[in-house]
Amino acid sequence: MSEELGPGGKKGALMELLKGKEREQILELFSSVEFCQHCLDAMESRGGEDEQQVVNPWVVSAKDGGKIDYDKLIDKFGCQRIDQSIIDLVGRPPHVFLRRGVFFAHRDFNHILDAYEKGQKFYLYTGRGPSSESLHLGHLIPFMFTKLPLVIQLTDDEKFLWKNLSLEECKRLARENAKGIIACGFDVSKTFIFTDFGYLGGAFYENAVKVQNHVSSNKVKAIFGLDGEDSVGKTSFPALQAAPAFPSSFPHLFSGKDDLRCLIPCAIDQDPYFRMTRDVAPRLRYRKPSLIESTFFPALQGENGKMSASDPNSAIYVTDSAKVIKNKINKYAFSGGQDSLEKHTKYGANLEEYAAGRMLTGEVKQRLAEVLTEMVERHRLARANVTEEMVDAFMKVRPLPNMFD
Ligand code: TYM
Ligand code: TRP
Repeated sequence: MSEELGPGGKKGALMELLKGKEREQILELFSSVEFCQHCLDAMESRGGEDEQQVVNPWVVSAKDGGKIDYDKLIDKFGCQRIDQSIIDLVGRPPHVFLRRGVFFAHRDFNHILDAYEKGQKFYLYTGRGPSSESLHLGHLIPFMFTKLPLVIQLTDDEKFLWKNLSLEECKRLARENAKGIIACGFDVSKTFIFTDFGYLGGAFYENAVKVQNHVSSNKVKAIFGLDGEDSVGKTSFPALQAAPAFPSSFPHLFSGKDDLRCLIPCAIDQDPYFRMTRDVAPRLRYRKPSLIESTFFPALQGENGKMSASDPNSAIYVTDSAKVIKNKINKYAFSGGQDSLEKHTKYGANLEEYAAGRMLTGEVKQRLAEVLTEMVERHRLARANVTEEMVDAFMKVRPLPNMFD
């Protein structure tokens, strides 16, 4: 993540200026001005009020000491809540991630459900930016929820542009991540995994360039909070994450099916990419993709942040050993206990986390370590059986005639 974008960065400092009296004066001035689209976009994406909650593809942090306010995100991003009426439309026992509200927001998911009812096909598209050697538990959410047919984008180019890693390292991480994804149990006859460095070209690149041609750099900068100091690569990248939402980007899979619907499962941090995608789609005479969006698997330290690959202490990776898991949980996991003995005796623990009060911190942590170790061990075994040849097979550009069976 660029430090500039963090709450303490230059932009944070600018927002600070817009507080109190100065802010009132500026707002008053604003009320008599007609805004150009760029200003409106900028206000939409950065929020008008003095919000301290930041959620974008790079930073997830709640207001001081609080939890992520997901209702507010729905309002701010303009997506729809997954309510009971949507779950009823699913027409079969809903997946546990729907029942438990892990997936909580959507865009036109009802269109997919209607189409499905009528026997029409659709494909799924999801992805991963390979920024670390292995996946963490949060990354598993979209993959565990995802059934076939599926395309998976590994944005090795994105991590090259943002993470200060060498090109070779990004490509290596993409392959390692592919192994972790394959270990979730995908079917090679219905799943196409691709890296941007490996696949880009042909019809895919044509779509990416069409997107680039129809989105102004001001718009991208506003949506993603970029400024003039950011590289041109960062401004052009979002079009590459948009392209897989259009079936014509995959002629070997969807030739003659230009009208096929696309459903994208992801966590809500990826919404900015797909707001842009849905905005540009009609201008290309393409269908808008639908989305189903999850909450964040919280950081070990608490629900004010997400489990993040770039902070090893916030995350449990699918490659962590039982011992590492136990240590991380005992050392870092937020249990509601106060952070100093003094505070703990004065205020007591925050019991919301194990509200029934029938379990002690140590017991909760021990049970958590057991559950996670079992899950991670299962994944580790599966991953150990994924060979280089299997990665090649999933990534081969090939027709998948049984994709929709
Ligand atoms: P990345 O690698 O940051 O994250 C991969 C996927 O995991 C989700 N995710 C989480 N979900 C729950 N809890 C968490 N703590 C957590 N952290 C990450 C992300 O929302 C994402 O769905 N630019 C993308 C790669 C990408 C992509 C896509 C993602 C390309 N095309 C299409 C989704 C859909 C990225 O860097 O994801
Ligand atoms: N709400 C979830 C539950 O009660 C916990 C949770 C929050 C979660 N965010 C998540 C689980 C993200 C998985 C992914 O089960």
